[in-house]
Amino acid sequence: MNPIAFVRPEQRASWQVLQQLAQSTLPDLSQLLKSPQRALAWHFEAAGITLDISRQRINDEVFQALLHLAQESGVQARIQDLFRGESVNVTEGRAALHVALRGSEMSNPPWGRDISNLVKAELQRFLAFAERVRAGQWLGAKGKPITDVVNLGIGGSDLGPRMVVRAMRISGLAQPVRMHFVSNADALALQAVLQTLDPDRTGFIIQSKSFTTPETMLLAQSARRWLSDAGLAANSVGRQLVAVTAQAPLAASLGIPAEQMFHFWDWVGGRYSVWSAIGLPVAIAIGAQAFSEFLAGAHDMDEHARTAAPALHLPLIMALMGIWNGNFLRATNLNIAPYAYALAGFVPYLQQLEMESNGKSTHLDGTTARIQTAPLIWGGLGIEAQHAYFQLIHQGAVMVPMDFIGVRQTQSNLPLAIEHHQMVLQNMQAQAQALAEGRDQAQTVKALTLEGLSDADVQRLTPYRIYPGNNPSSMLWIDTLSPRSLGALMALYEHKVFVQSVIWGINPFDQWGVELGKTLLTQMKAAPPLA
Ligand code: F6P
Repeated sequence: MNPIAFVRPEQRASWQVLQQLAQSTLPDLSQLLKSPQRALAWHFEAAGITLDISRQRINDEVFQALLHLAQESGVQARIQDLFRGESVNVTEGRAALHVALRGSEMSNPPWGRDISNLVKAELQRFLAFAERVRAGQWLGAKGKPITDVVNLGIGGSDLGPRMVVRAMRISGLAQPVRMHFVSNADALALQAVLQTLDPDRTGFIIQSKSFTTPETMLLAQSARRWLSDAGLAANSVGRQLVAVTAQAPLAASLGIPAEQMFHFWDWVGGRYSVWSAIGLPVAIAIGAQAFSEFLAGAHDMDEHARTAAPALHLPLIMALMGIWNGNFLRATNLNIAPYAYALAGFVPYLQQLEMESNGKSTHLDGTTARIQTAPLIWGGLGIEAQHAYFQLIHQGAVMVPMDFIGVRQTQSNLPLAIEHHQMVLQNMQAQAQALAEGRDQAQTVKALTLEGLSDADVQRLTPYRIYPGNNPSSMLWIDTLSPRSLGALMALYEHKVFVQSVIWGINPFDQWGVELGKTLLTQMKAAPPLA
């Protein structure tokens, strides 16, 4: 690993420069956006994704200081470490090789090549199985083809596959087998799905990296019981089960045929695992060819992340915007607003990716961080969000930086699809503009007067109808929602999260914070029932 002595982020020279810049008076966005060059100057592009940061509260000086922070923090060297397969997950003493799952050959022979071979072999196995399922060749214990597949898993074993399967179904990729997802251990969650299904034609994928997550284990137990109660012989229930895990021996007792057991490795973090066999539901839903495109999209972004110059590096630039807003302009949160109905699952997926990765306050040297790390990630679909909580973003007392995500072309074939699509995208533009430019007192007085209000009412209502504006946002654009573009978009956020972790000096690949609750749960399970 590239040796870099640990320095607290706030002790870096560039950090201090940025603090001063944040205190100096940068013109408001309403002023900055008057420059006709601004829109074009702050556009970046990679792997089919355009990033527009013209509505961020930055100028050249801030941008250069942020780049200097990245350079001082050794971001480029750490990115190379990630791609070389070094032990970047320092608290668990292992690499984080999700980039190898989508085709990056680790440049650290001989084990780099071994890993690529392992990855390719398992990929071929699970893609071949997915094709069999799609062709109706996965037969249940009574010889009937499986038509419905239920994914049982939680966190990274659910959110990524669930989001991608939905996105691809809504955007029109034919899915010959119906996919269902159950992650909540509440019995009604499972029941709500099972009551619509035929046990003779239903298969289950038990997804768990550790194969010890109690919620998933209970769901698997209930699913097996449902199958046996429907008359399947105890020794044939396993034929309708698939296990995907990094702990194959723990799954062995379930009687699952060897060809229905898929493997991935401890060097793939749960929230980075959709590219591994955990992506099996995706592969079943969209097929081997489209799954390969999904991996290729992520690989396109990997190549960009590995090779691009800092000033053109999308993940780095997004990371820096987050750091500027959070650490220097004191925003505590980031709202993600996809203006694409197919991306309804994107925010929950991103919440785990960002907050489980960077929601930490212990530095790599074991000292406590005195700076803010991951912001609260929240949000949801535009346009609905505008009619729910955007009021707070426009006029509330907290600053809410935003990522707007737009898709240029619709895949709908409704007769009025273009009108619908324009409505969606114009809404997105209008919101970004309103948040950036706001409406000051003079403009508000003018607008209310034009509405025909009396002078008294104009005076009375003006304070309520001013929009402070100056709220920063980025816009991400993709042409169409496809396996390839979605893969690239997801990898973009993954790399952004990694870059931020480097600058904050924390490890994004562990998640010790969730362990205590698990331990207490285990103790409670061992204790006598409460009632
Ligand atoms: O919530 C903690 C966590 O370990 C996540 O990191 C992980 O994605 C999820 O639980 C599920 O874990 P597993 O795949 O081992 O069941």
